[in-house]
Amino acid sequence: MPKKIKKVGVLTSGGDSPGMNAAIRSVVRTCAYHNIECIGIYRGYQGMIEGDFKEMGARSVNNIVNKGGTVLKSARSLEFKTPEGRKKAHDHLVKAGIDALVVIGGDGTFTGGMIFNAEFDFPVMGIPGTIDNDIFGTSHTLGYDTALNTVVEVIDKIRDTASSHNRLFFVEVMGRDAGHIALNAGIGAGAEEILIPEENLGLDRLLESLQKSKASGKSSSIVVIAEGDKIGKNVFELKDYVEANLPEYDVRVSVLGHMQRGGSPSCFDRVLASRLGVKAVESLLEGKSNYMVGLQNDTVTLTPLEQAIKGKTEIDRELLRVSDIMST
Ligand code: F6P
Repeated sequence: MPKKIKKVGVLTSGGDSPGMNAAIRSVVRTCAYHNIECIGIYRGYQGMIEGDFKEMGARSVNNIVNKGGTVLKSARSLEFKTPEGRKKAHDHLVKAGIDALVVIGGDGTFTGGMIFNAEFDFPVMGIPGTIDNDIFGTSHTLGYDTALNTVVEVIDKIRDTASSHNRLFFVEVMGRDAGHIALNAGIGAGAEEILIPEENLGLDRLLESLQKSKASGKSSSIVVIAEGDKIGKNVFELKDYVEANLPEYDVRVSVLGHMQRGGSPSCFDRVLASRLGVKAVESLLEGKSNYMVGLQNDTVTLTPLEQAIKGKTEIDRELLRVSDIMST
């Protein structure tokens, strides 16, 4: 019989993403709804090691559903990777009477949670929060939808300059080793070509495609490149290469960077965060542990943390074909 949970700790760790605050709010309010206490842990696992805790009641999360970033702050803790660091963290949890954890973040966050669970038999539930959408067991991670909308909005603006000056723009987007942001935002923004790590287009095919596009009467183009794509070493070298081989093109580079990670979450991310927070707390109360809550076929599901970390998220190949057809 698992121990009855009376106090849940919640933290955000790794890269912040829009929707994390909405998830914190959901965890806190679900605890309040079930009459259990909730403790906010600042700066992820580092704050756990230092006992940087704060009691959170339903009213302490007013007016954050619409805010980007994370009110609990985030960090990547090296100390938590050591047994000594984790022991300190466990001691602080015990001292504060916390008997379960909800960890919001990406694969690094879940790895930390899984090790902690194995070492101390401590109940842990994960909520996927990263703009990269690279977590297995959920069609959407928190922040991904907002990041897509941000990228599309910015590329729409870049398009104004591209078309006014008959230019070719290489727009680099985030995503770490995954091409989900590039592929989906690229289609949404009407990109000529989309370069992602999962698909090796090759330099020759890129040149061919750009030549074809010019010949078909297009005077400007947008090429979206995932930061993890290896085609041209880096986006600036790729620009030089294309200019050297296709002198008819006037090329510019735009690296979107961290603007993609900030901003008010979309309605989709807020609703997702609310659903995942409820499921995370209620699953802990049912005695479940070591899972990630996620969205599959619009249903909130549980995936073992180990699978969520190790499983591979696939690119939707159909989207590659759609993108090819759209750039005709
Ligand atoms: O994982 C989210 C992400 O924004 C990636 O897309 C990017 O590669 C990385 O984090 C950047 O991390 P940092 O926080 O170190 O700038």
